[in-house]
Amino acid sequence: MTTDKPSVTVLGLGAMGTALAGALLSAGHPVTVWNRTAAKADALVERGAARAASPAEAVAASQIVVACLLDYDSVREVLGTESLRGRTLVNLTNGTPGQARRFAEWAACQGADYLDGGIMAVPPMIGTPAAFVLYSGSAGAFDRARPALDTFGESIFLGEAVGRAALTDIALLTGMYGMIAGSLQAFALVTADGVPATDFAPLLTRWLQAMSGWADGAAKQLDSGDYATGVVSNLGMQAASFDNLHRTADEQGVHSGLFAPLGRLMQQRAADGHGHEDLTGIIELLRKDDNA
Ligand SMILES: NC(=O)c1ccc[n+]([C@@H]2O[C@H](COP(=O)([O-])OP(=O)(O)OC[C@H]3O[C@@H](n4cnc5c(N)ncnc54)[C@H](OP(=O)(O)O)[C@@H]3O)[C@@H](O)[C@H]2O)c1
Repeated sequence: MTTDKPSVTVLGLGAMGTALAGALLSAGHPVTVWNRTAAKADALVERGAARAASPAEAVAASQIVVACLLDYDSVREVLGTESLRGRTLVNLTNGTPGQARRFAEWAACQGADYLDGGIMAVPPMIGTPAAFVLYSGSAGAFDRARPALDTFGESIFLGEAVGRAALTDIALLTGMYGMIAGSLQAFALVTADGVPATDFAPLLTRWLQAMSGWADGAAKQLDSGDYATGVVSNLGMQAASFDNLHRTADEQGVHSGLFAPLGRLMQQRAADGHGHEDLTGIIELLRKDDNA
């Protein structure tokens, strides 16, 4: 069957690479795949993907090359010293902004037009409207690869500063892990009393959803630097009631180590005279080296 859709190579067939290659196949792109453990390609080959015998063969097969491996070192290792001349390299491997910048320099030396990306989805979300993927780097590479990239989810281009996608990805993961840390602590408290986690989960979800608007209001205060605007729950009050998180954890026989640093920052900020402001002012303490 012929198609006018560009062919795409996918390097790395872990859970995520397999989902990416599957989305491309579903959308009708010719797909070439390579994975260190070759057997992981079998199901995709049955669906019509071409199996490359080596990374070099995979890179030669398509002008657009998508890499999704464990980390940047493994991508470097896999690409080796191959010339990437004429290739649009899209690296969807998780990393830091610094790693993205260093990788972009290396990719440019190999001749590639480079796009760095951060996938904001778990594999089952790929190809659904729930998925979005952040990109930064070469605008030309983004434009060229976009029809293929759009098969993964919504493509969001954050500009040519190549580290921006990784920075945004890590910032979003930071928010997610904060939510998970809080949720684990909450489950520990109630299950210590014999409450089934499944009974508590709907209330937790409802409360987290009710609080999900927090970021928008906080962002306005953060951008203005005025943490006293529109305060509905002042820091002094929150610092006092936050102690009850520690006391309740003690009563329930649960560690409160996940929350101790936040409690200390709230106390310090209130003691510094900002008790009438919002919690958002704590960002000032996060920005100081001596409070890291
Ligand atoms: N899964 C998620 O929910 C998710 C979400 C967003 C972003 N990501 C990111 O996507 C990337 C891949 O994640 P994944 O879930 O697919 O991980 P995974 O299932 O653990 O797969 C890891 C992949 O990396 C390959 N690999 C590891 N070290 C290698 C090396 N030295 N040389 C060659 N290949 C190597 C593995 O090959 P073998 O099969 O031979 O071991 C496999 O293809 C990661 O950077 C991850 O942070 C994942």
